[in-house]
Amino acid sequence: MSDPAVKTASIKNTAKKVFIKTYGCQMNVYDSERMNDVLVPLGYGATDRPEDADLIILNTCHIREKAAEKVYSDIGRLKIIKQKRHDAGQDSLIAVAGCVAQAEGQEIIRRARAVDMVFGPQTYHRLPDMLKKIADGSKSVIETEFPTEDKFDGLTSKAGPKRLSHGVAAFVTVQEGCDKFCAFCVVPFTRGAEFSRPVSQIEDEVHQLVKAGVREFTLLGQNVNAYHGADPLGNLVSLGALLDRLEKIDGVDRLRFTTSHPRDMDDALIETLAKNKAVMPYLHLPVQAGSDSVLKAMNRQHSAKEYIDLIAKVRRAIPHLALSGDFIVGFPGETDEDFEQTMALVREVTYAQAYSFKYSIRPGTKAGDIKDQVPEEIKSARLARLQELLLEQQLTFNEKSLNQEFDLLLERQGRQDGQLIGRSPYLQAVHIEAKDHKIGEIVRVHVDKVGPRSLSAHIIEQ
Ligand code: 5AD
Ligand code: SF4
Repeated sequence: MSDPAVKTASIKNTAKKVFIKTYGCQMNVYDSERMNDVLVPLGYGATDRPEDADLIILNTCHIREKAAEKVYSDIGRLKIIKQKRHDAGQDSLIAVAGCVAQAEGQEIIRRARAVDMVFGPQTYHRLPDMLKKIADGSKSVIETEFPTEDKFDGLTSKAGPKRLSHGVAAFVTVQEGCDKFCAFCVVPFTRGAEFSRPVSQIEDEVHQLVKAGVREFTLLGQNVNAYHGADPLGNLVSLGALLDRLEKIDGVDRLRFTTSHPRDMDDALIETLAKNKAVMPYLHLPVQAGSDSVLKAMNRQHSAKEYIDLIAKVRRAIPHLALSGDFIVGFPGETDEDFEQTMALVREVTYAQAYSFKYSIRPGTKAGDIKDQVPEEIKSARLARLQELLLEQQLTFNEKSLNQEFDLLLERQGRQDGQLIGRSPYLQAVHIEAKDHKIGEIVRVHVDKVGPRSLSAHIIEQ
């Protein structure tokens, strides 16, 4: 999944304060919001300042290189804050959550004694119990197993916490974990086996969010198009069918989903993308590499040609689709020729936008102990070339938006007075002057100016 900017969850003032730092993907943003929701009934309100926090949570990501080291250095800074608060007679707790917590477990407390709690992505619904254990005198709490009870049951049941923190565009996790075991990836280890939430649970959450003013929903899953949740009759429902059901809920104006795997891209989903008016014409479909031997070594379970043919099929159904992807350069054993095949694939497919990374070792993964590593400077040179090409394609895609008209959901305040920022159907950031309009409105706009990373537009009608 993509890497949005590190973000801090925030809601209103209450007696106790929690500071949550979110690293990594959208699913972590969702998890942080849900941690916040779990803590509100316990009297916690959010703060943006760790100095004011009774509870500090680092919701970590393990996808990037040296992820654990970055977390340890953040803990080092927080330890000083904790000590200062202690000296002033105010105690605070430090919790490490998320995928680094899952991967490192006990080791975190051993290396960083300032940490009080360590819990993985599947156990944060137990936060009230964990806090109680600490209040009852436990020195530390570690919860990194994959529990038999369903985290989402605890989060969505009638007695469970309501969804409180969100904007007008919200994330909803519908699927979690992964059984694909790509050779480079830690997700199957940190998030566990693939799991789909039941349809009614998702619908309940969407209803709650609609009532709270949310208009756009991004369905999240590490492998979201493998979704196969049960409907109330016990029949398994595909992602396409789930999107079609959600579109029928009054107030659901826009739907998106991420991240998909080429192997799970079925015809029903392509049809939904083409026909369902609420489903935005944007598809994040990572290929990772363009060489068949690298794809095989990565255990991606498809060839370059299969991916190219799939994209052609999707584009026949949705010609104006914005395609996004992920790429890894310098996977162990990748030759110059292999890399040229990635460049050739990108030239042939063309992307509206994409994420690209240098391969880095994840201990425990299949590729983790391959000896044939590509030297760092070669990886850097390949990445620079790939990113130049991808940015060029991004600009070309944006240039096609010039003088186009589309609906824009106004999501947030811009830097300048009276400026609002929204996302186009193609997920481009669009800036407009909108003094008489409010966040949450959907307005019709005409695009006046385009750049590689954003567009400017003006409102043409309401
Ligand atoms: N090295 C580099 N990039 C990685 N990704 C996942 N694991 C690694 C790794 N070990 C990238 C993939 C994935 C995205 C979320 O992060 O491109 O799709
Ligand atoms: Fe990781 Fe591959 Fe699963 Fe994506 S499909 S989460 S890259 S193992």
